[in-house]
Amino acid sequence: MSFLEVKNITKQFGRQTALGDVSLNIERGELVCILGPSGCGKTTLLRIIAGLETSDSGRVVMNGIDCTDFPASKRNFGIVFQSYALFPNMTILGNVLFGLYQKKGVTKDEVRIKAIEVLRMVDLLEHKDKYPRQLSGGQQQRTALARAIALSPDYLLLDEPLSALDAKVRVKLRGEIRKIQRTLGVTTIMVTHDQEEALTMADRIVVMNNATVEQIGTPREIYNRPATPFVADFIGTMNFYRKDGKTDAIRPENIKLADRSGVYDVTARVKNLEFKGASTRIYGVLPDLDDILIDVPSETADEMRLCEDSTMFLRLSAEHLVHIPAVI
Ligand SMILES: Nc1ncnc2c1ncn2[C@@H]1O[C@H](COP(=O)(O)OP(=O)(O)O)[C@@H](O)[C@H]1O
Ligand SMILES: [Mg+2]
Repeated sequence: MSFLEVKNITKQFGRQTALGDVSLNIERGELVCILGPSGCGKTTLLRIIAGLETSDSGRVVMNGIDCTDFPASKRNFGIVFQSYALFPNMTILGNVLFGLYQKKGVTKDEVRIKAIEVLRMVDLLEHKDKYPRQLSGGQQQRTALARAIALSPDYLLLDEPLSALDAKVRVKLRGEIRKIQRTLGVTTIMVTHDQEEALTMADRIVVMNNATVEQIGTPREIYNRPATPFVADFIGTMNFYRKDGKTDAIRPENIKLADRSGVYDVTARVKNLEFKGASTRIYGVLPDLDDILIDVPSETADEMRLCEDSTMFLRLSAEHLVHIPAVI
């Protein structure tokens, strides 16, 4: 039995299918990312797990207990949204205390100690008497996180918690959320449309598209062995390579440049070079006029004196070729 079982959930909004038969299991202490493009049903799934939305059919089983018909208040979770949803007229400490006061059977002292503890954990203790508007976006989101974990929930649900923040803060907060999640060992579901976020943070990723689950696996499985054309295309960059009537896929960084005199599988012409710092992306064209992307260390590109219209000798080694069933 898994710590959270989502079984055959469906949900329609009028004629729009938000979820068509979605199932997944989450183990205790895991951080699972639900990853997919906008509109694929991620938020709806999270809200159904939280009990903030009802499903049309299917079950939600939490720690062995069927919670499908329980209201949100009977499910033990903390939730953080993209918009921080803090009370603007309360201090940071007040925002965290507010949730804690709803809990029965705890004394005022205990509540205060807990609030201070979680504010220290998210590194906001020195700002506890400020108001949300006096803090940066990242700090406000950390307040929302502190409020969510203060009640020591069984499940932490995060809906695109980083997408309103700028790139630098986002990357920093990824690490902080992951660290806190590990320290607490809290079972966490994080919704995101950002593949890099999912790859760097998740124990396992659930890739969704069009109201259904395409693949569930560890970041490495999803990246190295995509199960469907959608996953191959959505996560990272992928070349689709047709040979002998079947289609294989290969990542740009897995294509090696060989010498004219060496062993190679195919030639290609350089269309364009894009210097990206440590690596250089080569936009190439195969003899059959299909495009091919190759990432090489910039040093290699320099050494080989690649320029527009150079001919490349490419090695596509079998260990890196991923067979994709039914490419469209
Ligand atoms: N309350 C609602 N009423 C009508 N349609 C909705 C509602 N919530 C979501 N939808 C539709 O359901 C689909 C999935 O939405 P959502 O779960 O928010 O996707 P995501 O979070 O992946 O962007 C979308 O087509 C969206 O327009
Ligand atoms: Mg959403």
